[in-house]
Amino acid sequence: MNLVLIGYRGTGKSTVGKILARKLGRTVVSTDAEIVKRANLSVPEIVKQFGWDHFRDVESAVCRDVAAQDQLIIDTGGGAILRPENVEALRKTGTLIWLTATVETITRRIGGDTQRPSLTGTKSFTDEIREVLSERTPKYQAAATHVVQTDGVSSAQVADRILQLT
Ligand code: S3P
Repeated sequence: MNLVLIGYRGTGKSTVGKILARKLGRTVVSTDAEIVKRANLSVPEIVKQFGWDHFRDVESAVCRDVAAQDQLIIDTGGGAILRPENVEALRKTGTLIWLTATVETITRRIGGDTQRPSLTGTKSFTDEIREVLSERTPKYQAAATHVVQTDGVSSAQVADRILQLT
């Protein structure tokens, strides 16, 4: 089985994924890194040149391909759960761990990061997080096998908690 990290931007998926990979001696794959590799463009460049729908199409292909493998730690992009077929593919071969954090924690962790293009284009930074997070929460919830809260907890502690659960 794979171990799949899901959750909003800034919940620590990438850092925790690397720790888990080291502790378990497994390979970590980031769906975003895989998308960037396939497109040969950064995430903001893909979105600017081709739009979000195209980004989501490549993301779906990447989810399908990584889900076809075994024993991976999969660090997904925050929107990977938006398409039901991605969730279905990832769940078939993986345990999905939902990393949660409050709007305040997320704002603090990702503020000023230019590699994360706006998801709405219109809202202020914190309003966007508040809105998109609440819209996605039921989707993360439905997809998740386990939930791990990350506010005020170190990434190493989050990784240990995941190891206890799985
Ligand atoms: C996205 C999150 C990003 C990346 C893209 C879209 C989202 O990944 O896939 O910018 O829709 O939440 P991270 O969650 O790794 O930042």
